[in-house]
Amino acid sequence: MPDTRSFRFIAPVFAVLLSVPCAAAAQSSQPLSATVVIHADKPGAEINPDIFGQFAEHLGHGIYGGIWVGKDSPIPNTDGYRNDVVAALKDLHVPVIRWPGGCFADEYHWRDGVGPVAQRPVTVNTNWGGVPETNAFGTNEFLDFAEMIGAKAYINGNVGTGTAGEMADWLKYMTSDQDTTLTKLRRDGGRDRPWKIPFFAVGNETWGCGGDMRPEYYADLFRRYASFLKTPPGERPLIIASGGHDDDTSWTKVLMSTVHQNMGAISYHYYTIPSPTHDWQHKGPTIGFGENEWMSTLVNALKINDYIKQNIAIMNKYDPQKKVGFFVDEWGTWYDSAPGHNPGFLWQQNSIRDAVVAAATLNIFESHADRVRMANIAQMVNVLQAMILTDGSKMILTPTYHVFHMYIPFQGATLLPSDVKTAQYTYGKQSIPAISVSAAQGRNGVLEYSLVNLDPDKPVKILTTIEGANPSQVGGSILTGPAMDSHNTFDDPDAVHPVAFTGAKLRGHHLEVTLPPKSVVVLSLQ
Ligand code: AHR
Repeated sequence: MPDTRSFRFIAPVFAVLLSVPCAAAAQSSQPLSATVVIHADKPGAEINPDIFGQFAEHLGHGIYGGIWVGKDSPIPNTDGYRNDVVAALKDLHVPVIRWPGGCFADEYHWRDGVGPVAQRPVTVNTNWGGVPETNAFGTNEFLDFAEMIGAKAYINGNVGTGTAGEMADWLKYMTSDQDTTLTKLRRDGGRDRPWKIPFFAVGNETWGCGGDMRPEYYADLFRRYASFLKTPPGERPLIIASGGHDDDTSWTKVLMSTVHQNMGAISYHYYTIPSPTHDWQHKGPTIGFGENEWMSTLVNALKINDYIKQNIAIMNKYDPQKKVGFFVDEWGTWYDSAPGHNPGFLWQQNSIRDAVVAAATLNIFESHADRVRMANIAQMVNVLQAMILTDGSKMILTPTYHVFHMYIPFQGATLLPSDVKTAQYTYGKQSIPAISVSAAQGRNGVLEYSLVNLDPDKPVKILTTIEGANPSQVGGSILTGPAMDSHNTFDDPDAVHPVAFTGAKLRGHHLEVTLPPKSVVVLSLQ
């Protein structure tokens, strides 16, 4: 795909506003206004690349059909992995992938997915559609896939229906270099060298599908299971405890106060649904919605900021040195099932609304970079807020994919604090800040600046002052669309894609940008 971030788009100083912003501004009423001060002289924490992580579960066509088609498929593949999907994911610089679930993880017995494929048992995916699970995609297939796209592996162990011994053996199977029966099984499956397993979780959503536990009970289970997770020296993964969700901070409190070793991070899940009353039976449609649903989706998406803050406040009390990470290892939009799709497969379209949610959420994660050191959007292919949708041999990149691609320079960048004063976007009785921004110094020294206009109707004129840096060039890209639900389809795969943004005017320390309605802009200044 074209590299829209290349500096061929850098505009000279005093560049004039070109087509995209002017056209949008002309159509709309008076722009809203905002001011931002970026403190380039007060660098903060490193933005861990892993906050741009992904989640791939055995769910619908997330794995089968989406990533894995098998060696005999007519769909072009390499050793069973779709060539088109692999190429798109490589281009996205995916830092880490969480697998095999999700709810699936706590019913997954890893031995079902190793050894000769023809001899693997066919089980039932009880969580997602009750469909047969062939186990053709197992541990070797996942870890080879992660290596193939250059991503780190995050394995989620089974505490709900698995034993501590089964979990311990799985880690040995993957990481041991000794000659044992377990490593012979791995070698017979085609993998001689052990894999690197940087992250391993003990259970998933143990408050729900992972076993309907109380935090006190789970905390003791975590202590027991984690103490048997053994690897060769230097190969121990960071162990992740299953934490809370939404506004429930009790899991963080109990884990932080009762687990004193082995816990490298606490996981946390938050899904954005449009329903203002958080009604999971009537979440709202994926496309064809009105401004009321645009607004309620964004109101709900932004709530994650307060929820993260509440959890971090608890963690700071027990761990002021910030040794334990807060991993948002499931997040994203969740709509009513799209018509014509198996409701158990969680397939949904992905529009400009999802792009705005993704960008605003990534900005929130970046603002908590010292504690939020991993996040995994749900999910990678064909499930929920997916990067990629496939239909047989066809593939499309979603607006969310494009946001993640635009944000690549933020991976490993250093957060630069910013002060924002912005007009509100108001609809009905609800009101939210009209913009979301984040600034960082990239690993190559370039100042990266993301700006999101949450208002679907009005442009926002943003005057930014940069303190402590003297950029002389600015360039970047914009993602927007004509409608709130603009999206790509298999017939029109490029309806929504980033284009060069030349509407930034730089004068010394001052940058003026008019953001079109419902847009995501990422600028590079140097
Ligand atoms: O991502 C879909 C599901 O959402 C996951 O399996 C589960 O952990 C969560 O409830």
